[in-house]
Formats: sequence, C-alpha cells, structure tokens
Amino acid sequence: MQTVRTIEEVRSIVRSARLDGKGIGFVPTMGYLHRGHTSLVEHSKKLSGFQVMSIFVNRIQFNDAGDFSRYPRDLERDLAVARDCGVDLVFAPGDDEMYRDRRTFVDMELLTDHLCGAHRPGHFRGVFTVVSKLFNIVLPDVAVFGQKDIQQAVSLEKMVMDLDFPLKIVIAPTVREEDGLAMSSRNKHLDPDERRRSLCIIRSLRMAEGMIASGERSARKILSEVKKELSTGRPDKIDYASLVRYSDLQPADEISERSVLAVAAFFGPTRLIDNMIVEEREGKFSCVY
Ligand code: PAJ
Repeated sequence: MQTVRTIEEVRSIVRSARLDGKGIGFVPTMGYLHRGHTSLVEHSKKLSGFQVMSIFVNRIQFNDAGDFSRYPRDLERDLAVARDCGVDLVFAPGDDEMYRDRRTFVDMELLTDHLCGAHRPGHFRGVFTVVSKLFNIVLPDVAVFGQKDIQQAVSLEKMVMDLDFPLKIVIAPTVREEDGLAMSSRNKHLDPDERRRSLCIIRSLRMAEGMIASGERSARKILSEVKKELSTGRPDKIDYASLVRYSDLQPADEISERSVLAVAAFFGPTRLIDNMIVEEREGKFSCVY
C-alpha cells in the first residue's frame, strides 16, 4: 500500500494503475476507520482492481468548530487498517493541499432542504465541494458510500448525474455493532450511559419496521411511535425523525414505492444518525437498515 499527501502523486499512481488495465475504486473517508469504512472497500474490491481511499477531515463541512476539533484522528492506526483491508493507495492530504485560495463551492437545491441539511447549515456544500475535488483528483470508475449517511449518498448520486462525473456511485449497507448501534467514528465520544441510551435509535427503526409489516402506511402515525420509542432513551435532543421520498428527499405523508425513514438525535454533545430504506417490491414492503 502506498500513502501519499499530494494531488500530483495520486494522479501519477492512478494513471499507472489504469495503464495496467485496472479499474479504479474509491472510498472517501475522514479517517478513524471502523468496520463501516472497511466494508465499503470490500464492496469496491468486487467492482474494481485498484483501491484508493482518502483520509481527510474536511474542515469546510463542519458547521461547528468544536465538532471539527473534537473529531477523532489517528492516522497511524488508520493506515494499518487500510492496509489490512486491501487498500492500494491512501491519499491523506493536509488542509493546504486541498484548500489553498478556494473561492468555488459545489451546492445543491432541494435534496438538502430537510433532514441533516436543515440542521447543519453549510454541511452539504462542504461535502459536495470536497467530494467533487476528490473525484477530479482520483478519477475513479466507482465510488462507494455508506447508507448510514443516506442524505449524503443520495445527494451525491444526484450530483454525479447533474454534473456528469464519469463514475458510478454505489451505496453499501450500514454496518452495526452487535447490539444494533450503527458504527460511527463519533461513537467513541459516548459515555457508558449515553451508549446504553443510544440503543433507542435501533429500537425505533425496528418498531417502524414492525408497523410497516402490519400494514401501517401513514408517516404521521409511524413517526409518532418512532419519536415515542426514541424518547425512551432520553436523548438530549431529537433533531428529527422524518419520512422522505428516496428520489428527492422531500417529506412524504405515506410510505411509497421507495422511502427513507431517518432519525438524528443527540446523546450528550454527540449527534447520532440512522435510517432505514423502505421499498415496495411486488406489493411487499421491505425495510433495509
Ligand atoms: P466518514 O464519516 O468518515 O464516512 C466515510 C464513508 O463511510 C461514508 O460513505 C459513510 O457513509 C461510510 N460509513 C460511515 N459509517 C458507516 C457504517 N456504520 N456502515 C457503512 N458505512 C459507513 O462521510 C464522510 O466521512 C465525509 O462526509 C466524506 C464523504 C468523506 C466527505 O468528507
């Protein structure tokens, strides 16, 4: 595995891999790697011959300076994890390499109006800007993102379509701890009490799944029960519990062909998100979370 810090080095190494006839797979991350991240590399390996991972804590997507400085970092450990899961090239740039005198941003209408977009002003603009830059640097054939950050994944699919990036986005399932908590670099901030209480999130998704399985389609009724279940974990704040259409992430009154039920809640200062995709196939609804 090679580790580089400059755009020029990435371009030259990727060019040689391509000349060797390899397809380029790409997994962008902010590091502090866990099994959620490595699962994306596993998916990417099935689709391409050369694996690139970026590790860059992207300052411009943090709407809270405290959250940025608290964000966990451990590059040495990350490099060992990346090597073990078969990454060929890690791009770990410094702030200066990515953002010298930046005046250009990538932004999107509609899909960022709700869910995290409504609660984290500027967040998605920062994500779209850095991911566009990374796509232009790495020039991958396929880029893999996690369902865990569903609004990010769905809107990046839209960005790739709208801006004609010549690559395919793949969305991989959420990897969870044994008790159901979605893996996240931020989980490390939870104290034992917050960690226990955070399980109300997975309980609320399972409960919604149960309601849908027994025929409930009303967003109002499902969300009211989801919020009740969330409250049993005494979150410090519920940012949202919403049902949106998958296609444009706009609020829906009823479960439709393809919807997303998404929640965000604080446990202490730590904000956790989770979601489930609800899909109808041949009259049957399935929930993936
Ligand atoms: P980060 O939070 O490090 O996540 C990197 C990728 O890992 C994202 O695609 C995210 O959805 C995925 N991921 C995180 N936890 C996961 C889990 N439990 N199961 C499956 N996938 C999981 O998301 C970002 O970084 C940044 O916004 C980034 C796209 C790198 C742009 O800066």
